[in-house]
Amino acid sequence: MVNVTYIDPAGASVTVGLPQGWSLMQGAVANGVDGILGECGGSCVCATCHCHVEEARLGDLPAASADEVDLLDSLPEGRQANSRLACQIKASAAIEGLVVTVVPVQV
Ligand code: FES
Repeated sequence: MVNVTYIDPAGASVTVGLPQGWSLMQGAVANGVDGILGECGGSCVCATCHCHVEEARLGDLPAASADEVDLLDSLPEGRQANSRLACQIKASAAIEGLVVTVVPVQV
């Protein structure tokens, strides 16, 4: 299991253990984290899994694909340097203890 802490739009935090290989979106949906919708099932086309990750941990994450970057760039609410799509980050030892903040509004 890989421990990940989610902070929902209301500021509540929950730490859950994700099986290796699960995406952060899958973990959020399975554990009822508010604000992560995952409407496309992780196909990188909906952006309803937009989140902000700890800036200090960005280097621990796999690089965003061109499709993920394009989708983040198209968000009407804008993106931050630490914006990622939760469906594109898989649980692994590299992200143990990661803190993920769910953005207040999903498209
Ligand atoms: S779940 Fe649709 S882009 Fe992440």
